[in-house]
Amino acid sequence: MSLVVTNIGELVTNDPESEILKDAAVVVDGDRIVWVGAASAAPAADLRLDADGAAVLPGFVDSHAHLIFAGDRAAEFGARMAGQPYTGGGIRTTVTATRAASDDELRRNARRLAGEALRQGTTTLEIKSGYGLTVDDETRSLRVAGELTEETTFLGAHVVPAEFEDRPDDYVDLVRGEMMDAVSAYAKWVDVFCERGAFDGDQARAILKAGAERGLGLRLHANQLGPGPGVRLAVELGAASADHCTHLDDADVEALAGSDTVATLLPGAEFSTRSPYPDARRLLDAGATVALATDCNPGSSYTSSMPFCIALAVREMGLTPTEAVTAATAGGAAALRRTDLGRISPGARADLIVLDAPSHLHLAYRPGVPLIRHVLQHGAPR
Ligand code: NIG
Ligand code: FE
Repeated sequence: MSLVVTNIGELVTNDPESEILKDAAVVVDGDRIVWVGAASAAPAADLRLDADGAAVLPGFVDSHAHLIFAGDRAAEFGARMAGQPYTGGGIRTTVTATRAASDDELRRNARRLAGEALRQGTTTLEIKSGYGLTVDDETRSLRVAGELTEETTFLGAHVVPAEFEDRPDDYVDLVRGEMMDAVSAYAKWVDVFCERGAFDGDQARAILKAGAERGLGLRLHANQLGPGPGVRLAVELGAASADHCTHLDDADVEALAGSDTVATLLPGAEFSTRSPYPDARRLLDAGATVALATDCNPGSSYTSSMPFCIALAVREMGLTPTEAVTAATAGGAAALRRTDLGRISPGARADLIVLDAPSHLHLAYRPGVPLIRHVLQHGAPR
């Protein structure tokens, strides 16, 4: 089945040749984009979607989300807004709830959040494990994640679980050995929370290398709560992405700028932990590739909304609205090393959104307003 989206007032292509087109049309065949050009020259198709002069963008690529968990931590959020600091210690609360949940409960919760994200324009989601922290619980977390996305990430090294409190190195050995073996059939990526109070640089390196040996791609939670070795380790190991990047020194920024490691910024976490935002302007000016993602999780960032992250990046992180939209689409695709996503040009996957607005600027200009009118995912209206 082919479909022409016509009467597009503004088309954000993310194609270096065409960037933003006026009065455009897009033709989709099956799950692929096959034609992009002037509305007046659009070829015929089986079906027609009239964009009514609105803006059309690539679907958002949310390259960092933790959707496999049970329960919530609203009370922790309330306490934080009353002055408690965020330490990551609450992760264990969610681990307890997740271990006690059935597969079906985990599945229903993850589906609910993925549905929420889709309605807000997210057509690709990366989903991490990391609230199971046993061989069985991490494996079933990734099995459930794999029902929702091909971009699955093993985060067994999220925190040291309580039962390993006194012997963290034994937990590292479990993660890089038996746990990695069990999950590698279900995970595309491996990630580590490299931070004081979680895993240090040496532990992170050992776990990432064990993942690479089993064919997994690398990503790293780095420099979220304070400075540390994470960003440079990510670059050294050729990770696809260093995520958070809130506390960077000049050498970190230079390392990112001279590499293919994407700096993935997660402003929902700074919002929900009332922390200073990462300096996206500095990263872009240095030449780094920047992605925006939600970090959706019950502790530090319980939002599934890419438009909300775009608005924060513009207001608080020094990006223009166009740069923020690029980071939320092409940036996310780069962070997942996907060349078929985050752009509207022939050959790309037919993931696109029609806004309830004439321009992509409205995503930051009208924060908190539901502006997603239509979503096409893999060519299918959702
Ligand atoms: O990306 N930083 C580590 N993991 C999550 C937080 C998880 C939680 O608090 O439950 C994050 O912010
Ligand atoms: Fe995270």
